[in-house]
Amino acid sequence: MTADQSALIVGASGGIGRALVKRLLEDGRYRSVIGISRSEAPQPELATQQRLRWLPCAGTPAAIEATAAELEDALPRLSRIVICSGILHDAEHGPEKSLEQLDAEWMATVLQANSITPMLWLRALAGKLQRKQACRIAVLSARVGSISDNQLGGWYSYRASKAALNMLLKTAAVELSRRAPACKLIAFHPGTTDTALSRPFQARVPSEKLFTPDFVADRLLGIMEQARADGTLSYLDWDNKPIDW
Ligand SMILES: NC(=O)c1ccc[n+]([C@@H]2O[C@H](COP(=O)([O-])OP(=O)(O)OC[C@H]3O[C@@H](n4cnc5c(N)ncnc54)[C@H](OP(=O)(O)O)[C@@H]3O)[C@@H](O)[C@H]2O)c1
Repeated sequence: MTADQSALIVGASGGIGRALVKRLLEDGRYRSVIGISRSEAPQPELATQQRLRWLPCAGTPAAIEATAAELEDALPRLSRIVICSGILHDAEHGPEKSLEQLDAEWMATVLQANSITPMLWLRALAGKLQRKQACRIAVLSARVGSISDNQLGGWYSYRASKAALNMLLKTAAVELSRRAPACKLIAFHPGTTDTALSRPFQARVPSEKLFTPDFVADRLLGIMEQARADGTLSYLDWDNKPIDW
């Protein structure tokens, strides 16, 4: 890889997103690191970084298209894209434990954030890749999106949103294998990672199984480095092990 590449992170203010931005900035091969976030500005520790280009975006379909249009110049140099936005809970809602807890509006919110919005980013970015552009694209999924792995139940909306994301990505991989055969798509499970998303659910996680965002960022970037364009979607965990659908 030449030192003229760019990397782009969607959800750059999140726990995993911020760690990825930091690690990519430490890697001299990237001429610029583009952080896209609903936040107006990066965290203070990143604000002085010359190679960081920060683009605030509300995440509506129109705002995603407008942000992508601002990136026309950078798109041909992108060799890494990570979409790491997502939700599991908010102040009023958490993952459902029973059918009675299903709430139509919350289900729609989760599906929008975890399945639809990542695909709008993929349309805006991967849809414009050049045929020979060797870009590695990872989208943060989750093991709980695996249908065959679901033995515990619960977490209806989040599970469904990640299962839907996986199917959408699988479909995109088929299309990209024809349109942009040099790119590789990965649905990535980071393991339980110490971020705002998992914080209310960490109590029963043994400390050795609760990862730091820095550890996960290193793992994901290593996996992306090794990945080869093979025209398929890989569903991988933090240890580079495939997850059954
Ligand atoms: N942490 C874990 O244990 C774990 C486990 C499995 C999978 N994951 C997945 O990993 C990804 C990153 O999560 P994280 O742990 O880093 O969580 P996080 O710290 O809560 O970050 C998630 C980021 O997603 C963006 N976001 C939040 N609400 C959104 C909404 N309604 N619409 C669009 N974007 C929204 C925000 O980014 P901006 O503020 O920059 O816009 C937010 O900071 C998620 O897709 C999550 O499902 C996490």
